Amino acid sequence: MQIGIIGTGMVGSAIAFSLATAGTAERLILIDKHQERAQAEAMDISHATPFTFGASVIAGDYDDLKKADLIIITAGANQQPGETRLNLLNRNIEIFKNIIPQIIKYAPHAILLIATNPVDIMTEITLRLSDFPPNRVFGTGTVLDSSRFRSSLGFHLGISPTSIHANVIGEHGDSEVLLFSSAIAGTTPIAKIAAQTNIKLDHKIKSIIDNDVRNAAYTIIKGKGSTYFGIAGATQHIINAIIGDSHTILTISAHHNTAIGNYQNICYSMPSIVSKNGVEKILTPAMDSDEQTALEKSAATLAEYTKKALTAL
Ligand SMILES: NC(=O)c1ccc[n+]([C@@H]2O[C@H](COP(=O)([O-])OP(=O)(O)OC[C@H]3O[C@@H](n4cnc5c(N)ncnc54)[C@H](O)[C@@H]3O)[C@@H](O)[C@H]2O)c1
Repeated sequence: MQIGIIGTGMVGSAIAFSLATAGTAERLILIDKHQERAQAEAMDISHATPFTFGASVIAGDYDDLKKADLIIITAGANQQPGETRLNLLNRNIEIFKNIIPQIIKYAPHAILLIATNPVDIMTEITLRLSDFPPNRVFGTGTVLDSSRFRSSLGFHLGISPTSIHANVIGEHGDSEVLLFSSAIAGTTPIAKIAAQTNIKLDHKIKSIIDNDVRNAAYTIIKGKGSTYFGIAGATQHIINAIIGDSHTILTISAHHNTAIGNYQNICYSMPSIVSKNGVEKILTPAMDSDEQTALEKSAATLAEYTKKALTAL
């Protein structure tokens, strides 16, 4: 498979390194408005590939994407300490207005996976600019946040995060919704596991976990300037589902044409089946009434910002 990555800053290059060394792509094409940066990343990463699968990693231009099956977009401004993802919107719309027409021209049949923030709105913007079918345009959404949730729950319960199944849905951002009510460890609801192992999991502990997950990016950005390894892992996992046609359930951000509350025609994350066709089906998870209300509020936030964003197209 040939994979294009547009934007080879911290996120794009971490994803490229992961894909190249895992043997996911035969050929990786790196594109950045700073060509020297893309060239340097391609050179550096290609020096690691003889130790693994020998993938070809090149810095290129848009016409090199003609045979790309999948294009990952990570180009754009990132959050500065204390800045919300929604703050990035206007800057990143202008960048996408430049990038998407080039993709339409050279890779009209590719799947587009968006990581640039605010990812839900940038995914909707990409859909509108490209007019590609919604199954072929989706965002990394809350795949990363769900992983953070699993890690945090696993740490608290003393159970491997690989045995925790727990989803974060809605916005990849401040209004995201952690689904405690359906979280399980192995096959057992977390409340029952906590009772069996005498570990406290009351309202206070849940709100500490919620806070850690919701604010993880702010904490990492404060400490080291940006986040990139977690999103690289999440993106690798999504791409494995596409390449392996595995029908894995992932909380990617997809377009919803049915209403949640009063809001529709926006992108947000719900558990979705991902295959070689991209988004096969969006699923509705079990939610308690507080989670349902929080999801509707998250959709309201996204609808408000999406409406504003669309006026800039
Ligand atoms: N979805 C997620 O879970 C997640 C996680 C972390 C970061 N992000 C987002 O990913 C994006 C990138 O973050 P980063 O830390 O890599 O930023 P960065 O500043 O390190 O890299 C951004 C790159 O985009 C390039 N770029 C800008 N305009 C371009 C254009 N028109 N064409 C091609 N390249 C262009 C820049 O030259 C730069 O190399 C941000 O929006 C950030 O918020 C998303």
